[in-house]
Amino acid sequence: MIQRVVAGSSELDQTIEQIQEEALSAIADAKEMEQVNTLSVKYLGRKGVVTMYLRNVSSLPPEDRREAGRKGNQAKKAIEEGLKAAACRLSSKAEEKAGADAIDVTLPGRPAPAGSLHPITHITRRICDIFVKMGFDIAEGPEVEADYYNFEALNIPKNHPARDMQDTFYISENIVLRTHTSPIQVRIMERYAPPVRVVAPGKVYRCDSDLTHTPMFHQVEGLLVDEHISFGDLKGVLTALVHQLFDEHLSLRFRPSFFPFTEPSAEVDILCVMCRGKGCKVCSGTGWLEVLGCGMVHPAVFENLGYDTTRYGGFAFGMGVERLAMLKYGINDIRLFYENDARFLRQF
Ligand code: PHE
Repeated sequence: MIQRVVAGSSELDQTIEQIQEEALSAIADAKEMEQVNTLSVKYLGRKGVVTMYLRNVSSLPPEDRREAGRKGNQAKKAIEEGLKAAACRLSSKAEEKAGADAIDVTLPGRPAPAGSLHPITHITRRICDIFVKMGFDIAEGPEVEADYYNFEALNIPKNHPARDMQDTFYISENIVLRTHTSPIQVRIMERYAPPVRVVAPGKVYRCDSDLTHTPMFHQVEGLLVDEHISFGDLKGVLTALVHQLFDEHLSLRFRPSFFPFTEPSAEVDILCVMCRGKGCKVCSGTGWLEVLGCGMVHPAVFENLGYDTTRYGGFAFGMGVERLAMLKYGINDIRLFYENDARFLRQF
C-alpha cells in the first residue's frame, strides 16, 4: 500500500514539475495575448491541468497530501506569475505599436498655406492709401457704363476724334465698357457739391493687346475741386504720390499734352527707374517713363454738371496700375499678371 502511494506520489511529483516547466516555456513563447489566455485556461481553468492536479491531492494518502499540495500550489503560483508577466509584456508591446501610429493631439495644427494679395491689388491699395492720407475719399462705379458718363459729360461728343484715343468696346450704341474710371468722377460731381476730393480705382477696358497692353486693365483716377486751386496744387499732389510710391528723390516732369476734359493738360514722366535717365530699352532710350495723365478740369465739364466755374476750379489725373506695377517690380510682360502662375504671384 505504501509503495503504491509512494510510486503514485512520485509520478504526480514528476508530472507537476514537468507541467510547470512546459507551461512556463509555452507562456514565454507566447506572441499574442490570445495565446496567453488559452494557456491560462489550459493550466489554471476550471478543468485546467493544474486545477485537476490540486483536486486530485485529496485522494492521496494523508502522508503524501502535504508535499503534493505544496508542489501543486507552487506550480500554480509560478504559472500565474508567468501569465501576468507575459500579459504585461504583450500589452506594453501593443501600446508601443499603437503609440507609433497614434495622433498626438497636443501638437499644434499644420497651418493652411495662406495666399497673398495680387500685385495689382497691392499697388492699387498703396496708391489709394497715399491719397487717403492727403484727404481724398475713394469711390467706385459701374464697369458697364453709359456713353454719357464715359464720354459726353467729359467733353467728348459723339464722333469726336478723341474717341479714337480709347479703343472702346461697345455693348450697344449708348452703352460701353468703361474705357477709364473718369465716369466715376462725373457721377460724384452729379451727386455732390464742391469741395470734392476723390480717387476712383477700378477695372477699365480697351480693345488692345500686346506686351504692355491687355484688353482689361486697372486705373486709379482722381479729382479735386475747390476754390483757389492751381496747377501748382496738382504738381504738389502728384509729386507726393510719385515720391511715396517709388522713392523720395525720384525726378518727375510735366509735359504738355491733350485730353478733352482738362485744359491745360499734361503727361507726367518719371526718370527711368531702370537706367536712372541714361537711356535703356524700357524707356526707349529717352531716360523718361510716362506714368500719368492729368490737367486742370475743363470748364465745359463743370458747366455740364452745374458747377460754378467762376468760383471753383479743380484738377484731375489718371494712371494705369499695371504700368506702375511693372515699373516698380521690373516686370516686362503685362500678361504675367493674368496667367495666375502661383510662382509669379507668390513673390509679392
Ligand atoms: N482718363 C484719362 C485716361 O484714361 C486719364 C486722365 C484723367 C487724364 C484725368 C487727365 C485727367 O487716359
